[in-house]
Formats: sequence, C-alpha cells, structure tokens
Amino acid sequence: MLRHILALSVVLGFGLGAAQGELEIFSWWAGDEGPALEALIELYEADHPDTEVINATVTGGSGVNARAVLKTRMLGGDPPDSFQVHAGEELIGTWVAADRMEDLTPIFEREGFMEAFPDDLIELISTDEGIWSVPVNIHRSNVLWFDPDRLDEWGVSVPNGWGEFIDETCPALQDQGVTPLVVGENWTVQHLWESVALAELGNDDYSALFEGDLPWTDLRVVAAWETFGDVMACTNDDAAGLSWQQATDRIVAGDAAFNVMGDWAAGYKVTTLGLEPGTDFGWAASPGTDGTFMLLSDSFGLPVGAPNRAEAIQWLELVGSKEGQDAFNPLKGSISPRVDSDLSLYNAYLRSAAEDFASDAKVGSLVHGTAAKEAFMSEFATVMEIFLSTGSADAAANAAQAVATQVGLGE
Ligand code: GAL
Repeated sequence: MLRHILALSVVLGFGLGAAQGELEIFSWWAGDEGPALEALIELYEADHPDTEVINATVTGGSGVNARAVLKTRMLGGDPPDSFQVHAGEELIGTWVAADRMEDLTPIFEREGFMEAFPDDLIELISTDEGIWSVPVNIHRSNVLWFDPDRLDEWGVSVPNGWGEFIDETCPALQDQGVTPLVVGENWTVQHLWESVALAELGNDDYSALFEGDLPWTDLRVVAAWETFGDVMACTNDDAAGLSWQQATDRIVAGDAAFNVMGDWAAGYKVTTLGLEPGTDFGWAASPGTDGTFMLLSDSFGLPVGAPNRAEAIQWLELVGSKEGQDAFNPLKGSISPRVDSDLSLYNAYLRSAAEDFASDAKVGSLVHGTAAKEAFMSEFATVMEIFLSTGSADAAANAAQAVATQVGLGE
C-alpha cells in the first residue's frame, strides 16, 4: 500500500510539475512596499519555473522589526537563502565582521558587476577579503516632499534652510491650522534628524561624527540638536502612532505641508497611490542640503549555510542585472546604481535623482545602515527617546557620545 502511495505521489508530483527547488528571500518589503520586489521575483520565476520562491517579509519601515528576526535566525543557524541588507556598515560591521557571509567576488567578475557598478559603491560593500553583497538600488534620504498646489494656496514656498523654516514657514502654516512638518514613529524622527544634522553641520562634520573624529558633545553638534528641537516644535503631536506611509498620507490629504523622507516615498506615491511626480507632488533637497546626496543602498547577500545556495546565486545574478534593476527601481522609487541603467524607464522624480546622484557630493545615511555600525544605529533610537522626553540637546548629545564610546564608533 505504502509503495503505491509513494509511487502515486511521485507520478503526481512529476505530472504537476512540482517545484524542484526553493529560494527564500528575506526582507522588510511587505504590503505596499512590496511591488518592486514582487516584480523582481516574477522575473526570477520566469527564468526558473521549477523553483518555488518564498517571499519572507517582516513588516516595519526601515527594517526595524526585520533586522531583529534576521538576527535570531542567523544566530540560530537558520539563515534565509538571501536577505536584504543595507550596503555599508550594516553589512560590513555586522554580518561580514562575524564571518557569516560568502564572498561574492566570483559573481561580480563573472557577471560584469565590477564594471557595471560605481567604484565607491563597490567599496561600500567590500573589505580586503571580498565583496559581500549585490546592491539593487540607490535611495536618497535627504528629500523634502510637498504638494506644490497646496503650497501656493497656503502662500508658502520651499524653505532655503531650517532657520527660514522655523522663523517663517512654520508659523505661517500653523496660523492656517496646517501641520508644517509631519513625522511618524521613532525611526522617521531619526530620519528627519540626519537631514537636519547634515544641514547644520555640513558634509565634513556630519561624516566626521561617524568616523569618531568629531565628538557628539562638540558645541556644533549640541547646536544642531537645538535646531532639531525647534524643527520638532513644528511637527504633529501624534507622531508615535504613524507609519511613514501614514505620515505621507497627511501631505496628500492636505493636513500637513512637508515631510522629510527617503525617496521610497516617491515609490509609494507613484506605485501605490498613482500620483504624478511634479504635479501631484513636488520635492527638493531637504533644507540646507542642496548639492549633497545622502545615500543608502539596499542590497542582497549570501549567508554562509544558505540552504539553497545555487538558487540564491541565480537570485543575486538577477538582482545585479540591468534587466532586474530596471524592473525593480522604477516601482521602488530608487535609481539603479548601474552605469548602463535605462533612464527612459524612470519617472521625472527618479531622473532628477539620477542627475543629482551623478553631480552631488555624497554622504551616508545613519538610519539606513550606510554610515555607522549597526550597534550605534539601533541605539540611536534610545538617544532619540531621551531627546523627545527631555527636550534637552545636552542630554541627547551626552547619550549619543556614551553610545559612541561603548560601541567604538569609527574604530
Ligand atoms: C529603508 C530601505 C528602503 C525602504 C525604507 C522604508 O531602510 O532602504 O528600501 O524600504 O527603509 O521601509
């Protein structure tokens, strides 16, 4: 009997074209963050119809929840086949330092990625021992978003710096009952902070903070926290309960005038909400940061012990390919780092981002893994809590310095 059942299942399995392999992709691109990844997975499935793709997502903007789950799985000997990780310190200072990743240099050489990606991006994902992930995009962190028609109605324009925003734009909007600047849960407030800090400190001092070359208690940094406090006084008071999408929705609804968010907000507005860049929404470099592109890059790596290594390698080849990137990025609200990317497939916002990326000075995002060790990046949420509950720039500066010392920031 058992023999018959086995024989039958073999026949059925064969006859139904059962999947022969599996591939588990782990990321935080769930729900309305999902379409770009799904497009990439569809391409994979078209090329590898016998492989069943498991799209494992843990919801939560900027990966706050996904990273915790990933850590448990990695440390528990249960790695996914490939996972989303930010290029830079989040990759190098964590998984590479712990010897948990495979060197992808052979893939880079075989697939022509060495020539396709800019050298400084390859540097961000490399150590002397190897190349550790395949970048799928470039996102910009320091973007100010608004609705141009509503700004006209309210009689305000894009502020030139935070001083102008605090002194003029904010009161003009508050007088009309409009939230000048909308923020959401903790990480989105940190996201705003990195743009304010960049504007107030300038590129060199901002970067020096993460290299351990500028103390967090320096008076210039304390002054940046003071400015940040004045900016926060222009924000909504129900921030903690809002996702980044809900914060964006407030601008679309006309309840708030501005927000500072990465350009996944453009992906959300275009792909999910069906809005038109330039007319339905406008953008500018966040105040005081014109000419600087604060970047981050989502990438995928190959963990040591990936159960389906061969499939994961095929996935990484697709992730880095021109075809894969030009399918993914127009939906995601990011640009492709590939030098041969076909810009005719990208909307007006993304073409302008590509232009800025080509000409601007570059700095790395703290909140999205580029600039600082993950231990610092995750503890920065506590620093922010301290600031939000005390309103004290000194307390925040001291707390940040304590974390920097504890994790050996810049070492
Ligand atoms: C970033 C990530 C983006 C986007 C965003 C919001 O960290 O790099 O791709 O997903 O979080 O969740």
